[in-house]
Amino acid sequence: MLIKNGLIATAGDLYQGDIYIEDGIIKEIGKDLNIEDSEIIDADGKYVIPGGIDVHTHFHLDVGIAVSSDDFRTGTIAAACGGTTSIVDHIGQGPRGTTLHDPINHYHKLADGKAVIDYGFHGVIPYEVDDDRLKEMDQLLEDGIESFKIYMTYGQMVHDEDSIKVLKKAKEKGGIIAVHPENNDTVNYLKKYYSENGMTAPIYHAKSRPEECEGEAINRILNIAHLVGDAPIYIVHLSAKLGLDYIKMARDRGQENIYAETCPQYLVLDEEKYNLPGTEGLKYVISPPLRNKANQEPLWRAVREGDIQVIATDHCPFLFEKEKEAMGKDDFTKCPNGAPGVETRMPVIFSEGVMKGRISINKFVEVTSTNPAKIYGMYPQKGTIAVGSDADIVIIDKDKEVTITKSMLHENVDYTPYEGMKVKGYPVMTIVRGKVIVKDNEFIGEEGYGKFIKRYKNDELVRF
Ligand code: URP
Ligand code: ZN
Ligand code: ZN
Ligand code: ZN
Repeated sequence: MLIKNGLIATAGDLYQGDIYIEDGIIKEIGKDLNIEDSEIIDADGKYVIPGGIDVHTHFHLDVGIAVSSDDFRTGTIAAACGGTTSIVDHIGQGPRGTTLHDPINHYHKLADGKAVIDYGFHGVIPYEVDDDRLKEMDQLLEDGIESFKIYMTYGQMVHDEDSIKVLKKAKEKGGIIAVHPENNDTVNYLKKYYSENGMTAPIYHAKSRPEECEGEAINRILNIAHLVGDAPIYIVHLSAKLGLDYIKMARDRGQENIYAETCPQYLVLDEEKYNLPGTEGLKYVISPPLRNKANQEPLWRAVREGDIQVIATDHCPFLFEKEKEAMGKDDFTKCPNGAPGVETRMPVIFSEGVMKGRISINKFVEVTSTNPAKIYGMYPQKGTIAVGSDADIVIIDKDKEVTITKSMLHENVDYTPYEGMKVKGYPVMTIVRGKVIVKDNEFIGEEGYGKFIKRYKNDELVRF
């Protein structure tokens, strides 16, 4: 296959050229390549970028009261249609007493033969950490699980004492710990307070998880990571300026191994959504919640200036009518937390970021593909356009104008938080390991084509 005349954009480059692909790998890059008998794809006037990598999805996540509605087939089809060629899933942790291997094995069964793009799993640290769990981390690191998640809230929260143990292990063995940072006791107190005093409308979801809860937890886990000799720590779904300030403060005092992710919802949506009429606000019941609009520009600036390295989605869809609305209509605390986003990330960030001049095309590639690949042990197999890399490539037509509606998306859920949003620029072709799997928003790939990505340990993480 030969992709001709595209504007090839990587994290560090922008040039016009041709890309020749053989056996799923990029074989040659140059000007006016002529290779006999190759299928030609004309990319004249379009951006040709490394496929998006979404390192924060929740497919088939069982949260007790509901299971997220995208499985590895529908979720990866939606991802591909939105210009994403690899995902790394934050898997469910299973019941108390579970090992680290149990959920990994369970998710291998859920993804194998189903996923249409390549996929990896973050391990998840369940509840308590003993020597057996730590030995399992060693084993999993060898098996291609380079990262582990800890939750500082929810039923499966990990206590600080156990966070120290897993951070130490990650530091020793070249892994990284991803963390959901919210102060558990404060959130629980506030939820109970509002719920018991009749303040049960969706806006109280936001009020029960204020910025201070996120900021405190970020500051705490960064200090703990510092204590453990600057262990690598990755903050997921950063939503507000306060947490960002703590991240900058830690970096300023010399802590180097800090990585931060934000998501499109925190960059383009705000807490006014919770005041929409009726039950509409329940569509945005996610944790952390949408914030006051004043947080958006600081987050964009942090993306631009490198204080935030990754934009991922936290895709965790629940059916609106049957689940979010049915359970949450009388009390926000009963509404399952999460929203879809895996398909809209690339178009929303391209349009709001690149087309509106907030970030360059190179920065767009860096935060949606290259940095996630580097941080999570996939680079340079994934995350760039270079000779020898997997031919995971997306073609974006920057002139294509689209109004996002549920009906044009492939996510297996009955709404999108971005309904009615006008975007300029949209992926028109998605190629995974040399195979065209999406053309003009139509999925033409095959179920089960996606392969497990064995991610490598980072003995020396890339410093930003
Ligand atoms: O509300 C959300 N984000 N649900 C998914 C689980 C998590 O916290 O990432
Ligand atoms: Zn399951
Ligand atoms: Zn989370
Ligand atoms: Zn999440």
